[in-house]
Amino acid sequence: MTDYVLGTGDEEIARLGVQHRVWRARAIDAWRRAGIAAGQTVVDVGCGPGYASLDLAELVGSSGRVIAIDRSQRFLAALDAAAKNRGLTHITTIEADLDAVTLPDGADLIWCRWVAAFVSDPKLLLAKIHGALKPGGAFVSHEYFDYGQWRLAPDTSELDEFVRAVIATWRDSGGEPNVGVEIPQWCAGLGFAVRETRPIMDVLSPRDAAWQWPRAFVESGLHRLTELGHFTPARADEIWRAFLAREAAPGTLMVTPAVLETVAVKDGHLLSAGC
Ligand SMILES: C[S@@+](CC[C@H](N)C(=O)[O-])C[C@H]1O[C@@H](n2cnc3c(N)ncnc32)[C@H](O)[C@@H]1O
Repeated sequence: MTDYVLGTGDEEIARLGVQHRVWRARAIDAWRRAGIAAGQTVVDVGCGPGYASLDLAELVGSSGRVIAIDRSQRFLAALDAAAKNRGLTHITTIEADLDAVTLPDGADLIWCRWVAAFVSDPKLLLAKIHGALKPGGAFVSHEYFDYGQWRLAPDTSELDEFVRAVIATWRDSGGEPNVGVEIPQWCAGLGFAVRETRPIMDVLSPRDAAWQWPRAFVESGLHRLTELGHFTPARADEIWRAFLAREAAPGTLMVTPAVLETVAVKDGHLLSAGC
């Protein structure tokens, strides 16, 4: 098995936290539209350090259950520690490779964000998700569908070079960054009723709180791409300095990589009203 392309170190754990804080409201909104409710069993597929799992656990309450699955023992240990800190005893972590695992069945809702882009057979993962849901259960997905859309205005060739390198390394490791565009048709082919497909992208100014999400990815991504031998330390430094210079310049804007939200229901029924 190749090492996970983004790494599993402390810097990546912190970055995923920044990212979740920016995306949290949108995730919770999507879960509510999908009918999340107290007492349900929810599976967080490819949970990472489990920032979303913790929110899901709050929403389903102690009468419910969250099963959080990831290949990274480091990420799962971070989630176990955070759950203990918050006194949440209804999260079960499972260390498994999604390319090989059979998902536990009987789920009311399955959440999968920025994971299908990394597995070797995302269509098979969707089939497993379909199989693991109860009739009427909901699947909620956030995946990129146009990663190359990410750019700065005015155009900054150094960020464009970084984005091309990210796309290339994900593909080299067997993933597909733009997998989001396939998810609705794969869902329909499996017999899901696709309830919603919603593109999510932002045009951000450096003053927006959400700017910290792509900024953190550029910073940690440059370290990771240097580790992977894709950039020399000197080139990574030049790209970072160009990013900081653009960030400090008046009037700069950033177009974020485009995410597709998909909400799909097994056997076409909506769940009961959300909490
Ligand atoms: C970008 S992170 C997203 C984490 C989390 N879903 C979130 O939104 O914060 C991708 C996650 O997918 C996991 N992952 C990638 N390939 C996997 C595989 N084959 N089996 C299990 N987990 C995998 C990684 O370990 C990582 O935690």
